[in-house]
Amino acid sequence: MKKEIQLHNRYFELFLDATTIQDKVKELAEQIKKDYAGKPLVLLCVLSGAFRFAADLARYLDDATEIAFIKVQSYEGIMSSGLVREQLAATVNLSGKHVLLVEDIVDTGTTIHYLMGKLYQKAPASLKVATLLFKPEALKQAVELHYVGFEIPNHFVVGYGLDYEEQGRCLNDLYILKA
Ligand code: HPA
Ligand code: MG
Repeated sequence: MKKEIQLHNRYFELFLDATTIQDKVKELAEQIKKDYAGKPLVLLCVLSGAFRFAADLARYLDDATEIAFIKVQSYEGIMSSGLVREQLAATVNLSGKHVLLVEDIVDTGTTIHYLMGKLYQKAPASLKVATLLFKPEALKQAVELHYVGFEIPNHFVVGYGLDYEEQGRCLNDLYILKA
């Protein structure tokens, strides 16, 4: 694991190592498993950033767990554009199902707010949110988060699925933008 990396024109330093992340994912998965015991679950992974988190969560969940995808975009570079565009609609029928929306990060809350509004229209049996990362200081919209991995400061991070202009998603550790 490197202490510092460069992606495009920016430098990032190590923030959360892979073991710390994996331990947390396992802990969240155990809680989810308990809460949804006997209820078939759909993990709805918000692409692209949540692909790692969703895949690692899925390792620990029941065989009956379904996985589905949805894709939205709100970030340009290191800034939230404030607008959410849906690029791929949910890939399975969610009606009557217990849906857990899986996000990599909640910061302004704009994306999650938008998605919850859209997904409630699909009449799921229940709808909750799991996010690996949460930046409370960045929040602009009230959102309810049911499973949160780490609360982090309001700085740009990359790795473990999160990108800076499409780079960094494959890193196993999480890095934070250097001042
Ligand atoms: N890093 C990468 N993508 C993001 C972030 C971040 O800190 N916040 C919202 N999308
Ligand atoms: Mg991005």
